[in-house]
Amino acid sequence: MNLGRFIALEGGEGMGKSTQARLLARALQDKGIAVELTREPGGTPGAEAIRHLLLDPPGEGWQGEAEALLFAAARSDHVARLIRPALDAGRWVVCDRFLDSSRAYQGVAGGLGDDRIRMLHEIGSHGLLPDLTIVIEAAKSSVEARLADRDGDTSDAIGGRNARYHTAVNSAFLVFAEQEPDRFRVIDGMGSIEEVHARVMDAVSALLGDDR
Ligand code: TMP
Repeated sequence: MNLGRFIALEGGEGMGKSTQARLLARALQDKGIAVELTREPGGTPGAEAIRHLLLDPPGEGWQGEAEALLFAAARSDHVARLIRPALDAGRWVVCDRFLDSSRAYQGVAGGLGDDRIRMLHEIGSHGLLPDLTIVIEAAKSSVEARLADRDGDTSDAIGGRNARYHTAVNSAFLVFAEQEPDRFRVIDGMGSIEEVHARVMDAVSALLGDDR
């Protein structure tokens, strides 16, 4: 049996990842591929409960290490209960965010460092990596303007962090893509939903060409 393929969509805040993940899953289904559409943090009941703890934290909030551990714990449950079984059964998985979000947010912007984030991932999820990670990139000027507007808007504990934090997150994804060009594709997030979707499909075409 063919193993399923694992595609993650990544990027900073408000890049339309969830919409693009949904459109990608539907396009793959239209090609006759069985697809699990999922997200992080979340995707299983346990991981969704941890999502709530992370985005609406009790008390004064989590310190950096605890936050990274909670993301890794949510991912561990998600991989063991949903992602790994789906791939083993030959289904494809489209995931709205995965490990590279922890590397960018907690590792780079949060200052924990890549080695520790990868160590947690090794322990929690046996180091599972997507076959393809699509980074949706928006023009720096538009991201900065949007983030400046949002500064102080505590929509959730992480999205509400300052512009400097989110600028570091956005740059980190581009650095990761440069470091691992085989696993990453960076696409332009500007333009209509349909235009961005066409770029996503272009990025996925190499995987489709493999066995279809
Ligand atoms: P979402 O807004 O894309 O649903 O993601 C929820 C928030 O969690 C978003 O601000 C990004 C953040 N996040 C991390 O900080 N680390 C992670 O590993 C993941 C998956 C998300």
